[in-house]
Amino acid sequence: MKKEWWKEAVVYQIYPRSFNDSNGDGIGDLPGIREKVDYLDYLGIDLVWLNPVYDSPNTDNGYDVRNYRKIMDEFGDMEDWKDLLDDLHDRGIRLIMDFVPNHTSDAHRWFQKSRKSKDSSYRDYYFWREGDEKEPLNNWDSIFGGSVWEWDKEAREYYLHLFSRKQPDLNWDNPDVRSEIYEIMNWWMDKGIDGFRLDVVNFISKHPDLPDEHNKGPYGARGTKYYVDGPNIHDYFQEMNKEVFADRDAVAIGETPLVSEEAGSKYVDPSRNELDMIFQFDHVTFDMKEGGSWLPQRDWQLTELKEIFTRWRKVTSNTGGWNATYLSNHDQPRMVSRFGDDQDFRRESAQVLATLLMTISGTPFIYQGEELGMTNYPFTDISELRDVQTINKFNEMKKQGKINNFDEVKSEIRLWSRDNARTPMQWTSGENAGFTDGEPWINVNPNKSEINVGAEKKDEDSVLQFYRKLIDLRKEHKVLIYGDYKPILEEDEEIFGFLREENNEATLTMLNFSSENKKLSLPSGISVDGVDLLLSNYPLEGTEFSEETTFRPYEARLYKLE
Ligand code: GLC
Ligand code: CA
Repeated sequence: MKKEWWKEAVVYQIYPRSFNDSNGDGIGDLPGIREKVDYLDYLGIDLVWLNPVYDSPNTDNGYDVRNYRKIMDEFGDMEDWKDLLDDLHDRGIRLIMDFVPNHTSDAHRWFQKSRKSKDSSYRDYYFWREGDEKEPLNNWDSIFGGSVWEWDKEAREYYLHLFSRKQPDLNWDNPDVRSEIYEIMNWWMDKGIDGFRLDVVNFISKHPDLPDEHNKGPYGARGTKYYVDGPNIHDYFQEMNKEVFADRDAVAIGETPLVSEEAGSKYVDPSRNELDMIFQFDHVTFDMKEGGSWLPQRDWQLTELKEIFTRWRKVTSNTGGWNATYLSNHDQPRMVSRFGDDQDFRRESAQVLATLLMTISGTPFIYQGEELGMTNYPFTDISELRDVQTINKFNEMKKQGKINNFDEVKSEIRLWSRDNARTPMQWTSGENAGFTDGEPWINVNPNKSEINVGAEKKDEDSVLQFYRKLIDLRKEHKVLIYGDYKPILEEDEEIFGFLREENNEATLTMLNFSSENKKLSLPSGISVDGVDLLLSNYPLEGTEFSEETTFRPYEARLYKLE
């Protein structure tokens, strides 16, 4: 396996709006992040992924970009951004920017010009189509609710938007669009960043006929078949690689919702020069009921989750590719509320999940607050929600008469809404969790009195300290980075177990995903003599692994084998 800095890095994702507010306007900002660089250093991470900070009207919190070459006023200015980059680099922490290539804001200059006239040279930057005002051109559903087609009164035509109507899709089949995008990417690269996270990048190539689709995909949306991993996708990635990444030591990370195994294995095949790693979505859709995220979570089995992790490791290693590993981010529920037990075993189950993230193969991505075991939020009214996806869907269901009030979808919103992950970072037990001196743009979770950086710094057994130990162990034992992944106990419904092996080093990860004691014999082929405990989240009398061992509820252990 070829050595690369981005394979060895532990990534920390910052959602700037919710991280730290420096000027009391209730909105996190770049100077606020600078105040916390010491904390990032203390945690031990190597790379920061910053969610979009470009100028934006903020329909979708920065994923609707108005100007790619300007910083959002609320976050600061270019000087603040440069200072942050320097502060990070001074500590040996790299920085990647979130880039949004699939769509712009409707307030972007390109869209404004393209809307004005059919003859505009920008017309073909987007998907404009003639049609009947009353009937959209195809049956595709927007991921944020409603049709993907918006009738534009000014242009008297429809335009396509896979996300909100404020996020028109760019037409990547137009070579001018592609070269503009590469130019912007290079402009940022030249400022000294270390790579990009590329937003919904496997959606950029659409089927030229935009045909109807009759099956609903995992988001409950029709149309995905004709734009996920679309017809020209590999060509566009190769071109982007050549134009932007080829002569740089920078990383290209694709966010690839609903990616197929076939396409995914190609994206990360180093010989094809497309992307370096991708975020696959199987483990964040498998627990949804058919019809998407507005239904209760499906009962899921641990074997299903294990199968997904194991399968994607095969998919990527077949071509010598690499995984990006994550259990939560700004679009997903808090990991401990989704995959763990945020009531009785919050600390323990967050530590089990942390051990999975940090010891399975691939580059681990920690989402802000995850390292504290932050949880979902107990929303009680739609007025507490900020996310365009949640609000649009709620209004749509109300309009269609499917629901009358919030209570009817309360538990689904408390589980799935993206706002669960977007409540402010909990720094202290004090007012607004130390996030702001003003009125926060979104409520602070009431559990901040118990779950916060200040308290967890002092508590040796906290989730935070456990993350720090795991990060250290990853640095110390390179087998955790480059070792082969070998699942064990694949049929077991309580224990997630696997080996990492390289030359004469090996580790064994054993995770009890249940709230019961679990008695277990040592897997065959592993000798009792050569087992050394590196880390556990429960006190242990000795470090030995006897012939039969009992794993306590949500117990995590990491062993080193001789
Ligand atoms: C990605 C982002 C998400 C955003 C969407 C549209 O999935 O992670 O936050 O809403 O793309 O840009
Ligand atoms: Ca602020």
